Amino acid sequence: MATLRSAQWYAGQDRNAYIHRAWMRRGVPGDAFTGRPQIAIANTASDLTPCNAHLNEVAASVRDGVHEAGGIPLDLPVVSLGETQVRPTAMLWRNMAAMATEEMLRANPIDGVVLLGGCDKTIPSLLMAAASVDLPAVVVPGGPMLTGTFRGTPLGCGTDVWRLSEEVRAGTLSQEQFTRSESAMIRSRGHCNTMGTASTMALVAEALGTVVPGVAGTPAPDSRLLEAAHGTGRLAVDMVAVDRRPGAFLTKGSFHNAIVALAAVGGSTNAVVHLLAIAGRLGIDLSLDDFDRIGSRVPVLVDLQPAGRFLMEDFHRAGGLLAVLREARDLLDPEALTVTGEPLVDHLDDASVWDPEVIRTRAEPLVAEGGIAVLRGNLAPDGALIKPAAASPHLLRHRGRAVVFDSIEDFHARVDDPDLDVDADSVLVLRGCGPKGYPGMPEVANMPLPRKLLEQGVRDMVRVCDGRMSGTAYGTVVLHVAPEAAAGGPLALVRTGDVIALDVAARRIDLDVSAGELARRTPDKATVAGFANPGRGWERLYVEHVLQADTGADLDFLIGSSGSAVSRESH
Ligand code: FES
Ligand code: MG
Repeated sequence: MATLRSAQWYAGQDRNAYIHRAWMRRGVPGDAFTGRPQIAIANTASDLTPCNAHLNEVAASVRDGVHEAGGIPLDLPVVSLGETQVRPTAMLWRNMAAMATEEMLRANPIDGVVLLGGCDKTIPSLLMAAASVDLPAVVVPGGPMLTGTFRGTPLGCGTDVWRLSEEVRAGTLSQEQFTRSESAMIRSRGHCNTMGTASTMALVAEALGTVVPGVAGTPAPDSRLLEAAHGTGRLAVDMVAVDRRPGAFLTKGSFHNAIVALAAVGGSTNAVVHLLAIAGRLGIDLSLDDFDRIGSRVPVLVDLQPAGRFLMEDFHRAGGLLAVLREARDLLDPEALTVTGEPLVDHLDDASVWDPEVIRTRAEPLVAEGGIAVLRGNLAPDGALIKPAAASPHLLRHRGRAVVFDSIEDFHARVDDPDLDVDADSVLVLRGCGPKGYPGMPEVANMPLPRKLLEQGVRDMVRVCDGRMSGTAYGTVVLHVAPEAAAGGPLALVRTGDVIALDVAARRIDLDVSAGELARRTPDKATVAGFANPGRGWERLYVEHVLQADTGADLDFLIGSSGSAVSRESH
């Protein structure tokens, strides 16, 4: 093993080495500091991130594994984001969590790191940090909840909240029963059990190569998760010994595999911004168009809510990600490596589909062409996304009059107004919801439909927004429009009554207004008033530096890597 990074703190007989060692002693033997890899356990456990609250127990298993392999485990609590609790949106804090974690890994005498995440933004922020500090790093995903049932029916986290709340409005479910379903839905420790962002990011992280193959998707209460955590602790020590850093083993091919996996599992559109941001930290040239080019013809093989029927416990039982990837083996990059040092494809031989209802074969996919389509046009010069598998086929080619809302508050105030001039062919436009405009790019793009249209039986409409949507949602939604309205995007210039043309097959989203007319328009006062204008703190820094969705919505000065070098001593 080459000299450890931590030796810069601990080696030698001088005063500074004395200080670094002495304060760490407290019962620790002296040989803990000589030649033994110092492995941080970057832990997002928090009572306010209930999906990750069990990670302290996972961390204890990682510690055992690190010790066994001769390393020194070190708990490092890091910024944690609870998707359901944090306002105005957890996405606002993803880059802050990534920056804080990166800096603490660099600032401390650490040789490698085990990353413990689960809830939506936690794995992305940890991977962004690990990529920029470029120390040997491996993820243990905290795993999904077990399936809860209510009145004899399985409940999907997120997806079924909307269904049950509509049942209450329809009078088929009492308020008391609705409340009782809360603890049935959230049955156990772990993150959402649908194919929302948390499940998606755990699986995508494994396809990327940053999780021990076969571990992602293991339910949080399953004993095998602790076994995997133990093994991952050992592996982290080995990774330091061979200097297996993200910058060394993650390549464009790794991202290719992540995009194939994202499409094959029918994963969340949020994975696009997260993968773009992680690639940006690594200096890998990944673009929005790569998602369309690589992913849009990959079949959806997984029948999970919200696109399908089952939940993550079923997915794990049916064979998990490796079974899916085995079906899609010919689409994968055979060279892309994993944390084990071996190519991802080398881990597929033993995988099997145990339940072809849950994980389909290539011959019988859930959707023949899954993935995410990237649209461009005069309404989204830098791109926008749509998930065709989650959209209504009859709306994939559509022209309709825009009904424009300047903020989510404006939307809520007017959407159910019986006098709102809207019909089933209208296109709902919501702006001011991009990274800068909100700020933080919240999950509001799948706007609820106007009540009067719901009453007429309308179940889907074309919607256009510069925000994101929950991984548990569906509909004909054009989202992540770039540039956003608040960054000078033409979305700010749309007026109610303008015609918008969507053509997914042609990958177009256009405003049927002449270039000359658009050039003459400026955003209305009310539109600009809807944009965030924070005076201080993180929100100010964020709004001044955040990039657009098409490059991952990272901060401009966080792109790239600083590596792990620290130039100056603290004493
Ligand atoms: Fe944490 Fe869904 S709220 S994963
Ligand atoms: Mg979410």
